[in-house]
Amino acid sequence: MFTEIQYKQMRVKNRLVRSAALELGTTPDGGLTEEYLAIHHTLAKGGVGTIITGITGISKEGRVMPKMAHTTHPSYQEMLHKDVKNVESEGAKLIVQLCSCGMLSHPLCGKVLAPSALGNAEAMSIREIDNLVEQYVAAAKVCERAGAHGIQIQAAHGFLLNQFLSPHFNQREDEYGGSLENRCRLLRRVVMAVKEAVSPIFAVFVKMNQSDELEDGMTFEEAVEVAKMLEESHVDGIEISCGLVGSKEGLPNRVITRKEEEGYNFEAACRIADNINVPIIAVGGFRTFSDIEICLQKSKVKGISLCRPLICEPDLPEKWLTDSTYQPCCKSCNQCFMTNPLHCKFKNIDGK
Ligand SMILES: Cc1cc2nc3c(=O)[nH]c(=O)nc-3n(C[C@H](O)[C@H](O)[C@H](O)COP(=O)(O)O)c2cc1C
Repeated sequence: MFTEIQYKQMRVKNRLVRSAALELGTTPDGGLTEEYLAIHHTLAKGGVGTIITGITGISKEGRVMPKMAHTTHPSYQEMLHKDVKNVESEGAKLIVQLCSCGMLSHPLCGKVLAPSALGNAEAMSIREIDNLVEQYVAAAKVCERAGAHGIQIQAAHGFLLNQFLSPHFNQREDEYGGSLENRCRLLRRVVMAVKEAVSPIFAVFVKMNQSDELEDGMTFEEAVEVAKMLEESHVDGIEISCGLVGSKEGLPNRVITRKEEEGYNFEAACRIADNINVPIIAVGGFRTFSDIEICLQKSKVKGISLCRPLICEPDLPEKWLTDSTYQPCCKSCNQCFMTNPLHCKFKNIDGK
């Protein structure tokens, strides 16, 4: 856990990742604040090697709420620069998770777009698809100019790029729907366009589901193929998750009550790691130091992400460094969801 890791060009001091978590603590129109920055600074002081921000919009549209951070806010680049400097001063790396939320977007943020007309959402035209690719590129460049170490393209949890991958949401009959290759076309376009636009040392990660866990959704076998296509598109790392936000079928943040429920995406992440040569990060329910060590030693998985345990205890890595038997306080109760700014309701905001 505490050995260096190289995600293609990006070297990080340890293999622990703070998985994306919607920070809020933003201005009503989605600008970053000192409160938002403090969340990352505290995490970096606590010893985690890589911090992935919560979902960050690539435009005003396509966000779950007007408060959600977005790269087109006038002060975004300047504030992100401060954020990166704070994180770097503690020896950690900052990756911005870019996300267009598709049918999960709030109408107050603008037109709600999805692969196909569903609920509130309108089906995207080819022009809107081309525009989206450009918005991802522009957003990545803002992050690069601010000094961030990379971006993560959110293609999991039922957001827009996951909706394209999934036959459950994607009923298009053009080159973006139907076959898996077509459903993956937009994600690949985004990865390739961003990679072309940024310097080789700027990391481009993807977060994807190991399957949609829906009868008519993307299967695990298809997820393996998606990962292979992402490898061909020169992605720098893939984080393997699961679940659909707000779905009854399964959440990305499962409740864990028994030891056997820990590390619930690990098997899938291992099988994907065995099939490709891209650094794989597994997320979901990791709670026990010794289990994480075994996972890292016995598999090709390169990194382990934690979300809720680090909301509860941002200094958990430091605690594990001094006592590997330390058991995190997090009870996976999910009461942290939508707290503003992000915090554990059973702890003070600074995690004490
Ligand atoms: C409060 C909260 C906010 C989250 N926000 C995001 C997010 O912005 N982007 C994302 O990809 N996942 C988000 N997630 C999911 C986590 O990144 C992670 O995949 C999930 O919680 C499982 O990891 P854990 O068991 O370590 O918490 C969020 C989870 C929680 C609990």
